Amino acid sequence: MKNILIVSYSQTGQLTRLAESFIRPLQNQTNISLEHIQLKPQQAFPFPWRFTPFFNTFPETVHLQPQPIEPPSFKQAKYDVVIIAYTIWFLSPSQPITAFLQSQQAKKILQDTPVITLIGCRNMWLQAQEKMKKLLTDCGANLIGNVVKVDQSNDWASFITTPLWMLTGKKKVGNLPSAGIAESEIQDVQRFGEKLLQIFNENRPLDHTIFRNMQAVKIDEKLMMSEKVGSRSFHLWGKLLIKCGQISPSFRKFVLYFYIVFLVAMILTVVPISAVIKRLLKPLIQNKLDEQKKYYAQPSGE
Ligand SMILES: Cc1cc2nc3c(=O)[nH]c(=O)nc-3n(C[C@H](O)[C@H](O)[C@H](O)COP(=O)(O)O)c2cc1C
Repeated sequence: MKNILIVSYSQTGQLTRLAESFIRPLQNQTNISLEHIQLKPQQAFPFPWRFTPFFNTFPETVHLQPQPIEPPSFKQAKYDVVIIAYTIWFLSPSQPITAFLQSQQAKKILQDTPVITLIGCRNMWLQAQEKMKKLLTDCGANLIGNVVKVDQSNDWASFITTPLWMLTGKKKVGNLPSAGIAESEIQDVQRFGEKLLQIFNENRPLDHTIFRNMQAVKIDEKLMMSEKVGSRSFHLWGKLLIKCGQISPSFRKFVLYFYIVFLVAMILTVVPISAVIKRLLKPLIQNKLDEQKKYYAQPSGE
């Protein structure tokens, strides 16, 4: 009998559907026991978000200081593989997932255990996965695969539609394309569950080759540099905002509003400028870009 654990946290249910699609081929198999734990924050993050709380969660999210979750109860002490299904908040894993990975429970369960990460997000997940790798290393886990699905509309449309969805709860607004991951992409992750099933049925060991040549991830070259800049900015401003909050919550709010304006201006300038710079420098830095792409695509590969 193979024991599979899947841990997820979803607000709208989109990531839950992605996780369920992944495990569908593994259901009703006599040799497989599946356990799906959906994390619950002690105080729910309300959805749709209100404007200020949405942005005000970023300092603690990026500094990996999450709000506590209800301690989950697991049926087993150890699992043959653990799937961590997570969404991205401010270029970091969502707070409930971070809270779980920092817990003593996670350390026991994940120690020396193969882990697969399954990400469902707008489109920027590279820096979050770097944080995830560090959190998994701290648990002694062995990351063997990563599968990523991103929102269906292009970068500029989703820059509007994803925040609108988060702030209004509406996926489709006016003539804009629908926010969220395409239905066909949600169904597509079944391929990865099938592959896992095949490996178990053939009694092969689980290792980093599990999702090779399956287009498990796609690295957007354009976003590599903007994510690095964005992550650095979040880190510095997050630190500052946490310090401001220690002086007074209203001072933190004041600096936060200033940062939001700065952030929007930065996104509207840094992202296109870095894309133009990258295009101009492309012939000179192509080898470096290829190396970076290869690095971020690990362990699954593109
Ligand atoms: C507070 C917050 C911050 C987010 N930041 C990012 C981000 O940095 N990058 C990204 O690709 N998506 C981001 N998203 C979108 C989520 O990753 C995800 O696609 C969306 O929340 C739907 O997930 P759900 O299954 O929890 O409903 C953010 C969402 C929230 C609520």
